[in-house]
Amino acid sequence: MHRVFVTGGTGFVGRTLIQALRAEGHVVRCLVRRGSEHDLRGFEAIERVEGDVLARASLDEAMSGCDAVVHLVGIIREHPARGITFERLHVDATLNVLAAATTVGVRRLLHMSALGARPDARARYHRTKWRAEEAVRSSGLDWTIFRPSIIYGPDDGFVTTLARAVRRLPVVPVIGAGNTRLQPVPAQTVAEGFARALDQAASLGQTYEVGGPEPHTLNEIIDLLGEILKRRKVRKVHVPFPLVRRLARVLQGLPFFPVTTDQLRMLEEDNVCDPTPFYRTFGLSPVPLAKGLERMLVP
Ligand SMILES: NC(=O)c1ccc[n+]([C@@H]2O[C@H](COP(=O)([O-])OP(=O)(O)OC[C@H]3O[C@@H](n4cnc5c(N)ncnc54)[C@H](OP(=O)(O)O)[C@@H]3O)[C@@H](O)[C@H]2O)c1
Repeated sequence: MHRVFVTGGTGFVGRTLIQALRAEGHVVRCLVRRGSEHDLRGFEAIERVEGDVLARASLDEAMSGCDAVVHLVGIIREHPARGITFERLHVDATLNVLAAATTVGVRRLLHMSALGARPDARARYHRTKWRAEEAVRSSGLDWTIFRPSIIYGPDDGFVTTLARAVRRLPVVPVIGAGNTRLQPVPAQTVAEGFARALDQAASLGQTYEVGGPEPHTLNEIIDLLGEILKRRKVRKVHVPFPLVRRLARVLQGLPFFPVTTDQLRMLEEDNVCDPTPFYRTFGLSPVPLAKGLERMLVP
């Protein structure tokens, strides 16, 4: 049994992760920002400490007494006017967590990165995720890094939005030709991988790419949603990348505009992997996308 300090526990992946950690018998302590307590309603059996990953001083005390850290905090969209940037939330936040873990003497660290993280990536999201990984690798802690493709489940930002469009709109807008390949993985699978990694010595110093059993194009995912939601034929309208990019340059600062130029860079490239080492190491079975979507969307 571990006492696990979790950052990002109030988020979409975090809430599933808390359940997976509890199911394995661990005690969970969540870092909660002021104003976000309501996101953990229903999670009575966990410890909560107020703090912010950007406030280094808050972390030492918050973490003390724990023997493992799961660092999930990350953003997909920047709000520079409010100081919310990839640089701060991916790189600086990770440095703060690593420094606190080192100071307090917590040795085990599970770090959430993202598939596509690499030094020369086109998207700054991926480049800053890479730099956070590099900091983890040189931390001297007992680390394991996870790089998932798109994660889906209740309250996610991807399948939930697409499913709503398939249900409600006469035609579903698709950015580009829809041929980009993705490998969506259920949040439950990701969470169980993290929970099992805590005591899995073979995962020390390893980086795992995480995805569903096989790649699917965006068009295929939308068609699959149509079948599952019993829409006879899903009609799509393809909006060319250059047009969306021009609009995004002007409108991405406004919360209603659905994508940023950085997200467009990611949408233009495949996000696929060989997840075999992940499933083998943690003794998990890959869930085919059709089955996972059905579990998520069909009552
Ligand atoms: N979702 C995916 O498809 C996907 C795929 C690959 C990797 N990932 C990575 O997985 C991680 C979790 O993603 P998610 O989808 O669960 O995101 P999410 O729902 O937006 O959750 C983000 C979490 O980070 C917390 N947070 C943000 N700024 C913070 C700060 N300054 N101090 C403390 N906590 C802060 C949020 O807290 P509040 O509740 O206070 O806002 C929330 O708990 C991220 O690192 C993301 O890059 C996600």
